[in-house]
Amino acid sequence: MNKHVTPYQTEGEAKKKQVEQMFDNIAHRYDFLNHLLSAGIDKLWRKKAIKHIANFHPKRMMDMATGTGDFAIDAVNGLQLESLVALDLSEEMLAIGRKKLNPKNAKIIEFVKGDSENLEYPNEEFDAMTAGFGVRNFENLEQGLQEMHRVLKPGAPLVILEVSQPDNKFLKAIFSIYFKGILPLIGNLFSKDPRAYTYLPESVEAFPKGKDFTNILEKVGFRNAKYKALTLGICAMYLCEK
Ligand SMILES: C[S@@+](CC[C@H](N)C(=O)[O-])C[C@H]1O[C@@H](n2cnc3c(N)ncnc32)[C@H](O)[C@@H]1O
Repeated sequence: MNKHVTPYQTEGEAKKKQVEQMFDNIAHRYDFLNHLLSAGIDKLWRKKAIKHIANFHPKRMMDMATGTGDFAIDAVNGLQLESLVALDLSEEMLAIGRKKLNPKNAKIIEFVKGDSENLEYPNEEFDAMTAGFGVRNFENLEQGLQEMHRVLKPGAPLVILEVSQPDNKFLKAIFSIYFKGILPLIGNLFSKDPRAYTYLPESVEAFPKGKDFTNILEKVGFRNAKYKALTLGICAMYLCEK
C-alpha cells in the first residue's frame, strides 16, 4: 500500500534506497527541523511511550529506525537498561546520533546500521522495542514488522509512534494547511531537499491508520494491539506485545 509513495519517485530504484538517500541528505538538519516543525511536542510523545515500556522492566532493548537517536537516548534516561541497539538504514543519521551521547548513555547505546526487514539478530533477543516515525518508510511493512516480532521475546512490548491526522473534519482541515502547505515550505528552506518534506505528508496519507494498522500488527503475530491518538490525533501511538 505504502510502496507507491517514494521519496524521489525514481523509476526502478527501490524505496529503501531512496529513503536511505533522503535521510542521509537531510541528516544535518533533521533534529533542528524536527523540533521546529513539531514545536517540541515529539518529546512528550516519546515520554509516553517510554512510560508504557517501563511497566515491562526491560534490560535489553532495540530502538528501530532510530535516526539521530532521540528515542534511544530518552529510553536510556527513563529506564533501567543494560543495553540498547539503536538501528537505522542511514549512516548520516546514525553519525549525528553518536555525537549526542554522553559517557553514561554511550556505555548502553550501540548505534548500528541495519535494515528492519533483514535483522542480523537471533530470535527472542530483545525485551522491548520502540519505533518512532520510521515504519511508514519501510519498503515492505509486513516483512519489517515480522522481523521486529521475531527478535522480541515472548510477551515483550513494542511501541510505535507515527504521524497521523485528526479525525475531526475541522481540525483535519487546519492540520492539512500546515502539513501540506507550510511544513514543506519550511522543510525545503532549511533542508535543501525539495522532496523530503513533500514526501512526509504523502507518506502519512498513504499509511494505514488506527484499526487498519493494529490489524496488520495482529496479522504478523503481535497480541493486544491498541492505538491511542495523541495531541488531537496528529500522532498515533500503537502498543502491542509479542
Ligand atoms: C523520520 S526518521 C525517525 C527517526 C527517529 N526515530 C525519531 O523519532 O526522530 C525515520 C528513520 O527511519 C529510518 N528507516 C526507514 N526505513 C528503514 C528500515 N527499513 N530499516 C531501518 N531504518 C529505516 C530512516 O533511515 C530514518 O532515519
